[in-house]
Amino acid sequence: MATLVKVFFAFSLLALCATASLQEQDILRNVKAIAENLITKENDTDETTLPELYSITPHQLKDRTVCDACAIAIDVIISYRRSGANRQSMVEYIKKFCKKFTDWGSIPCDGYAEIEIDTILFIIDNKRNLTPERVCAIYMPTHKCVDPQADKWTVNIPPPLTPNEETSAPPNASETMKILQITDIHYDPDYTPGSEADCGEPLCCQKGAPKSPDSAAGYWGDYHSCDMPWHSIENLMEQVKKEKYDLIYFTGDIISHRSWVTTVENNTKAIKQINQLFDETFPNASNIFPILGNHEPHPTDFYSPESQSRSKISTQWVFDLVADEWSRWLPAHTKPTIKKGGFYTVLVKKGIRVVALNSNVCYKNNLWLIYDDKDPNGQLQWLVDVLAEAEKNKEKVHVLSHIPPGEVECHRQWSNQFRRIVERFSETITAQFNGHTHYDELRVFFNGSKVINVAFNGGSFTTYTGLNPNYRIYIVDKNNFNVVDFDNFVFNMTEANLQNDGSIKPRWFKLYSFKQAYGLDNTGSTQMANLVDILRRNEASIAEYFKYRVKDSDPLLKEGCDRNCLKQLVCSITAVETDESLNC
Ligand SMILES: *[C@@H]1O[C@H](CO)[C@@H](O)[C@H](O)[C@H]1NC(C)=O
Ligand SMILES: *[C@@H]1O[C@H](CO)[C@@H](O)[C@H](O)[C@H]1NC(C)=O
Ligand SMILES: *[C@@H]1O[C@H](CO)[C@@H](O)[C@H](O)[C@H]1NC(C)=O
Ligand SMILES: *[C@@H]1O[C@H](CO)[C@@H](O)[C@H](O)[C@H]1NC(C)=O
Ligand SMILES: *[C@@H]1O[C@H](CO)[C@@H](O)[C@H](O)[C@H]1NC(C)=O
Ligand SMILES: *[C@@H]1O[C@H](CO)[C@@H](O)[C@H](O)[C@H]1NC(C)=O
Ligand SMILES: [Zn+2]
Ligand SMILES: [Zn+2]
Repeated sequence: MATLVKVFFAFSLLALCATASLQEQDILRNVKAIAENLITKENDTDETTLPELYSITPHQLKDRTVCDACAIAIDVIISYRRSGANRQSMVEYIKKFCKKFTDWGSIPCDGYAEIEIDTILFIIDNKRNLTPERVCAIYMPTHKCVDPQADKWTVNIPPPLTPNEETSAPPNASETMKILQITDIHYDPDYTPGSEADCGEPLCCQKGAPKSPDSAAGYWGDYHSCDMPWHSIENLMEQVKKEKYDLIYFTGDIISHRSWVTTVENNTKAIKQINQLFDETFPNASNIFPILGNHEPHPTDFYSPESQSRSKISTQWVFDLVADEWSRWLPAHTKPTIKKGGFYTVLVKKGIRVVALNSNVCYKNNLWLIYDDKDPNGQLQWLVDVLAEAEKNKEKVHVLSHIPPGEVECHRQWSNQFRRIVERFSETITAQFNGHTHYDELRVFFNGSKVINVAFNGGSFTTYTGLNPNYRIYIVDKNNFNVVDFDNFVFNMTEANLQNDGSIKPRWFKLYSFKQAYGLDNTGSTQMANLVDILRRNEASIAEYFKYRVKDSDPLLKEGCDRNCLKQLVCSITAVETDESLNC
């Protein structure tokens, strides 16, 4: 359902409605008729998909129409099951549904249906009072679909300490440490240089002869929909090994985007292989802090709740795996919370703490949110407790979270509660580190005109899609754990692939230093507020932000970012919860 619903509405319905001489009622009837016909049509000989039937021009339809159509289609799926359809009929139905409503083609549709079916059926069969509105509200946050029965759950946050209890360590930039951030590697074990990079499936560069020389998968990676080959990841490691780091943050997404053929075995293998490579690159390290991405589990994006940990559709295996894998770097006391929900905390040294979250539970494609969205695995309440204790002990904290604050595809209530927590503990949290979007981005928390927190998105190693690979080095104040500056390192994929046989290694270079690029004296509250102000008012500055955001990649620079696009970028910088981002 996850994948299917998402794509269905992303592609076909937009198209359907955009053809728009159709009245709303016709559109809704049409969706219902098509969805219902697929049940009775045993063999659908009409292979025309909706995206083929209608030309795609998105952004032209009312959110309300999309949400109503979503509810109608989901209702057909739920009703079919409840009318007695068995597992096999449901698999077949979902395959047909996917093929009809998306342009993914048979192989991905069949794969997704097989992988997701048991979780879909469990939720339809076991979720009390399941309504299509609930499904659509969770899956389609970007269309602002509303579930009138949504539970506005909250976590308990202690009141602020009285000011004289509050202490902040004196700033002392004279002593700094270096932190390496690597994120979103997306390793594709089947990447084949020279194969078809424009294959028409959601991920390519694995097989087939290229249609033209332009679509031959590059040696070091490719700007098309492709992830990264092993030898490129080895090159990244050779590169980062040249320096020493006080801490290393690895913020998730090891597995490739070929999500319709994942297996527990293959994901396990890839996760172990990457961890092993980190281990060889930084032998005997005790300063590596890894977190999970949304791609690590199988099925992709699904993080089952504790209550289902013994069920056969549980994703507990990924928590057990990383509890074990990460034990080479992390102290033993982190194991229980990793096994519980993939999160942990470590006191790095006196006064300095890392809190590592599994924020992927909030991602809209996590089907388990439909089953139970209330603070999955008690993670946010745990976060509050950890931060309250840290505050009491006068510690400063870095929060690592794969999904950035304000991500539009993060569950609204989770995002809202996370924001409350950051605001309450903004003196204790000195920085946040994210991945997931693959862009180099900032999220800035304000209280009135005062900047109270900054979340740094480390970009991605994968090119997916159209990007140059990057990694980051932060300069951090040793005493108060504030980010003083950072350098972003990239290589130009066009250039790396000129000699397309691996004989010349990628030329890594520093694309920019944060303070210098934006003319900042420091990264304190006042300067950061000024920066946001400048980005808002000065088109040249936000254009610079765009260039760094796509890591100076040829195809995305060529595509460019028009006025509206730039405006949206500026807006997102200060949108620190889902509801705010939706209004950008
Ligand atoms: C539908 O296809 C299946 C397998 O491809 C075949 O066995 C069956 O006879 C077909 N049914 C009809 C009504 O054509
Ligand atoms: C800052 O760090 C330097 C170098 O370790 C030290 O000599 C100095 O006392 C520190 N200042 C404060 C205010 O902590
Ligand atoms: C598992 O990985 C291997 C090696 O990459 C691949 O050949 C195989 O097809 C994968 N299994 C599945 C089910 O995709
Ligand atoms: C890592 O630790 C092992 C066991 O303690 C030791 O044998 C090995 O020499 C160490 N390697 C390095 C590079 O320090
Ligand atoms: C915002 O600032 C006001 C005024 O200084 C203060 O009273 C309030 O506690 C702050 N709120 C947060 C969430 O930091
Ligand atoms: C990347 O490298 C290619 C090939 O050398 C060059 O033409 C292009 O201008 C470079 N891109 C950027 C953004 O510098
Ligand atoms: Zn991700
Ligand atoms: Zn990713």
